[in-house]
Parts: sequence; structure tokens; C-alpha cells
Amino acid sequence: MNFNFQKYQAAFFDLPNTQIQTIPLLTWDTLLSTNQKLWELIEQKQQLPLAIIALEQTAGRGQWGRQWVSARGGLYFSVGMTCNLAVNDSFLLSLVIGWGIATALRNYNLPVLLKWPNDLILVDKKLGGIKLETRSQTERITEIVIGVGINWSNTVPEVGINLQSYYQQRNLIGITSLEQLSAITLSGIILGYQSYLEVESEQLLNNYLKLFANLGQKVSFNGSIGIITGVTTQGQLRVRLQSPGAATEVCLSPGQISLGYQENKQ
Ligand code: BTN
Repeated sequence: MNFNFQKYQAAFFDLPNTQIQTIPLLTWDTLLSTNQKLWELIEQKQQLPLAIIALEQTAGRGQWGRQWVSARGGLYFSVGMTCNLAVNDSFLLSLVIGWGIATALRNYNLPVLLKWPNDLILVDKKLGGIKLETRSQTERITEIVIGVGINWSNTVPEVGINLQSYYQQRNLIGITSLEQLSAITLSGIILGYQSYLEVESEQLLNNYLKLFANLGQKVSFNGSIGIITGVTTQGQLRVRLQSPGAATEVCLSPGQISLGYQENKQ
């Protein structure tokens, strides 16, 4: 399978964001990881912004050091950008990028939600994930690589879903190619990034919460049962812990809790 640039460019006409047309795109058949390749290109002084795609990855990087299985048929996409952001802001940025991509997909009638922090969820299953990597100098982030994996026609594990099977099972026609999905994903990344730069964090959070799939979910933390009540402006998960006679609220970072998927849900 090849990547068809004409189809990719044709998809821009339906998208609101004209800036995406100015971002060069390079494609590979096989890479270890598009994020890794982008960092190599940045070291070689390639101009940013730059987007890259691989039709398959042999060492795709997932969140929290996990591997992202990347067989042909999936979207493996990374964008590199220069920036000047506070180091502490990168976690909220990763949530807002998730919101941007979910919003771009929702504009194509896909009811995509977000599982904290930024998994893309469709009918309770994992449609895709985002891995944001940063380089910083003296407490400022100077470069970011935003890597996105979305299941298009690749086989997925029990907890996953791919877009083509979603359409087929419902007899729907929606996004018609990997190239179109790439253009929509890029427009979502830019929407998220621009919103992050221009919009107050309270508002960013409100936007995120409207698509937040975990609200009200029961979790267990440190031996107590809790209920997810929201997300902080730093992107942490708010959980109300219920102990006999008292309720306390804790704010948790991804290393402290993982929400997982409910395997019996279809
Ligand atoms: C997750 O674990 O949910 C995040 C997965 C991110 C995978 C994408 S695929 C394109 C880019 N290159 C990588 O090596 N990882 C990201």
C-alpha cells in the first residue's frame, strides 16, 4: 500500500484550518517509530513544523514506556514543532491535543470521547492514542513531537476498535481513506495546539470535560474506592475517595493510577 498525496491534499478542502496545508509531510513505508524518526530529523536540523507518516512501525512507542503495536493499515503519524512553553504545562497540553483530535473526528460524525489522560475512545473501545514528547532548555520546552496512532483498518486487541469496522458494522460511510484520516488528525493537532496557546486553562478544561468518558467512574486507589469527579487545570485526575464517615478528594497523576479498559464491554 502506498500513501496517496493527492488524496491527502484533497482532504484539506473540507477542513477549517488552512495552516495544515503549509506543514510539509514526509512518508516512509516502515520505521521503528515516527516519533523517534522525527527527533532524528530535528537533530539533523530539519525545519519545523514537519509531519511524518509510516505505513508500519516496528518499535512504536506507547505511553508509560509501553510498545504501540503498529501493523499495516493503522495511522502512525507524528508532527514536530518548535515552541516556548513552561515545562510544567506539557501534561495539560497533551490533554488539549487529545481534545483537538477528538473534536476534529467528531466533526465527521464519529462520537469520539477521551479516556484520561488522552486516549481516543469510540463506543467504549480504544480507537487511538497520543504520545507527546518534549525537549527543553532551562525550564522551557523548545521542541515537541506529537505522535498519534489511530486504528484505521489494522487488527486490534479486544479492547480496541478500528474505524473501518465501526463503519462496516453500522453500514455507514464516513472518512474514506487513511490519507483523509491523516489530514483530519493533523487539523485536530493544530486545533488543540492553537487552543492551548490562545484559550484560558479553565475553558480548555471545560472543553475537555465535555468529552471526558471517565466522569463518575468507580476506581480503587490505595485500597479505597473512589469516584472520578473531574480533572484539574494541571491535567490531574480528581477522585473522591469514600471511606466510612468521610470523603476526601485526591488529585492523581498518570503514574499513580491507570484506568484500564472494561474487557466485557463491546
Ligand atoms: C498510547 O500508548 O496510547 C499512545 C500511543 C501513541 C502511538 C503513536 S503511533 C505514531 C507515534 N510514533 C510512536 O512511536 N508512537 C506514536
